[in-house]
This record gives sequence, C-alpha cells and structure tokens, in this order.
Amino acid sequence: MYYTFNYAKGVLLLFIYRIALRDIERKVREMAKKIASEKLDEEDGSIVIDADEEQATIDDLPGVGPATAEKLREAGFEELLAIAVMSPNELAEQAELGEAVSSKIIQGAKKMANIGGFVSGNKLLERRKEVQKLTSGSAALDELLGGGFETQAIVEVYGEFGSGKTQIGHQLAVNTILPSEQGGFDGEIFYIDTEDTFRPERIAQMAEAVGLDSSVVLDRIHVARAYNSAHQMLLVDEIKKLSKNIDVKLIIVDSLTSHFRAEYVGRGMLATRQQKLNRHLKELKQLSDVHNALVLVTNQVMSKPDAMWGDPTKAIGGHIVGHASTFRLYLRKSKGGRRIARLVDSPNLPEGEAVFTVTAEGLRD
Ligand code: GTP
Ligand code: MG
Repeated sequence: MYYTFNYAKGVLLLFIYRIALRDIERKVREMAKKIASEKLDEEDGSIVIDADEEQATIDDLPGVGPATAEKLREAGFEELLAIAVMSPNELAEQAELGEAVSSKIIQGAKKMANIGGFVSGNKLLERRKEVQKLTSGSAALDELLGGGFETQAIVEVYGEFGSGKTQIGHQLAVNTILPSEQGGFDGEIFYIDTEDTFRPERIAQMAEAVGLDSSVVLDRIHVARAYNSAHQMLLVDEIKKLSKNIDVKLIIVDSLTSHFRAEYVGRGMLATRQQKLNRHLKELKQLSDVHNALVLVTNQVMSKPDAMWGDPTKAIGGHIVGHASTFRLYLRKSKGGRRIARLVDSPNLPEGEAVFTVTAEGLRD
C-alpha cells in the first residue's frame, strides 16, 4: 500500500514537472521569436517584411469559420490586405457572402492586416546603396539598364517565342556565380522552370566561355520544375525556407505566366488569376528585398487583335505584372540573329534600346 502510494506520488510529480518544463520551453521559444522580429525592425527600418514572421491569416478574422474562410479563398482572397481594401457589397458579391458579414470581415481585416509604415527617405537611400548590378555579357544591354541587372528588383523580360528570354535567364544564372570584379554576385541561384526549357548543357557551355568550372556552376544553380501554378507558388515558399542556408542572389521564374494563362481561362477567371499572380509577385519581391537579390521573370506576349498600327504585341498578365516589375524589357528578333531589347518601364532610367546577340558562348554585343 505504502509503495503504491509512493509510486503514484512519483508519477504525479513527474507529470507536474513535465508540464512546467513544456511551459518554460514555450516561453523561451516565444521570447526568441520576439527578439528576432524586433532585431529585423531595427536593422531595416521595417521596409522589409520578415519572411518568417508569423502573420495573421484570414482564418484569424473574427467571425470567420472554416466554411467562410473556404469561400474567401475560393474567391481568391488569401490575404488580409486584399480584403481590407474591398467595399462590403463587392466582397459580398465576389465571395458569395451576406453584406453584413462582409462588412464585419472587412472591419476585422483592416485592424489585422499589415498595412506597412513610413520610413524616411534617408533610410531608403541607405538601402539603395546596397544595390548590386549583374552583367549580362552584353555591354550594350548592361548600359541600357544603367550598369546591369539590379538587385532588390523584379525584372520582367517579355517577347515572342525564340526572342531570347530563356537565354538571358541561363546567362544571368552563370554570371551570378562570377566574382564581383567580373560583374557577378558570387552567389547562388534558384531557377523555377515551368516550361521544361532549363538546359544544364547550355549552362555548362556558357560557364566554360567565361572561364568558370561548369560543375561548380551547376552545383550552385538549384532548379525545380513547376507542374502547375499552385506548385509554382509553393516553390517560392520552398525558396524562403532554403535561402536560410543558401546565399541566394538570383531567382528566375521562366515563365511567370504560362501556367496561369493555361489554367485561368476566360473573363470569369481573370480576377482570380490576377490576384494570384499579384500575390506570387509580392512574395518574389519580398525575397529580393530580404536577400538583396535579383528576380528575373519571363513573360510571353499575346497577339492584340486591334493592333493594326503600332506594336502588335502585349505582355500577358497586364497591369499586375507590369506594375509589380521594377524594370520591363521587351525583346524582339532582328536581322542576322540579333536581338533588340527595349527598356519599357523603369523608375529611374530613360526608355531606350540595346542590340545584342545570342552566340554559342552566350549573350554578347
Ligand atoms: P519561348 O520560351 O519559346 O517563348 O522563347 P524564348 O524567348 O525563351 O527563346 P530562347 O531564349 O529559348 O531563345 C532561343 C533562341 O536562342 C534560338 O532560336 C537561337 O537563336 C538562340 N540560341 C539558343 N541556343 C543557342 C546556341 O547554343 N547558340 C546560338 N548561336 N544560338 C542559340
Ligand atoms: Mg523560353
């Protein structure tokens, strides 16, 4: 009897001890997280959103149960900010909810969404000083871009088939490995390939041409094939995780729009497609800010039936992709295998054109 009592006492004590230990562990974890996020705020003046920071999601909204969350998601509202900027009747219509419910959800989203803050111009200038530039192998193209392809930016390259978009991707991947004295970043590359056009042989060829060991280069290019648009977006999450241990300086999505274009067909799907693309691009931009990296996305063009005059082509994805990209390069084929790149949109450079060629060695003047 005595032993049984002692045994029970022991078990009870052990149980209490374990609960206390778990509580302490949890507190320590919370503290570490808080310190990490405060540190980030100090360093970057809150321009950068920590990819790891746990942010509220639509599931945390007051009055939103699993069924409503599902409806919101189905209507393409994955983010609080997207909901916060809606009007109650718009949200009610798009997510098939009552107007009173929509109104309440919007109020909640306004409180919880990360609206962002203001930082001083000097802080931004400091951050701009960290911008690095990557050579393309063509002096003319580098000059058009004010010295090369910039970090902390999304560059959209669009043009018809065979205009050289994938070749630019391959060349920038190789050049990213070069040391900075040679116009490189001495960093690593994530390559999201949606069309199965990544060719290691081509990388090897370009690498040898700039005096790099092709095996070293291929080792530092991390390639994933994206099977559909959802997978493509998941791969960006994967980059977020992997880039803790990999010094990412270039992220390529070739092509950004092909899956979206094939999956979201027709007018009715347009809003959802654009919202998803917008979110995808925002996540990519975040990565480029956090890692001071360059993001290169390629895009096809669609025939514009009403373009009897002027440029008969227009990039897919319209305003969303155009506005999210920091620089836009329009490529077209010219005589003798030459390519013409036109800088269409840039925050600080004049519009202009550059002529380059694609050779066996890669991009050249
Ligand atoms: P889509 O993805 O089909 O829209 O086209 P893209 O714009 O990605 O075209 P891509 O970059 O694949 O360019 C293909 C073109 O690059 C070919 O038609 C060739 O002119 C050129 N090219 C590709 N590889 C080589 C090569 O090894 N040597 C030479 N000289 N040219 C090449
Ligand atoms: Mg291509």
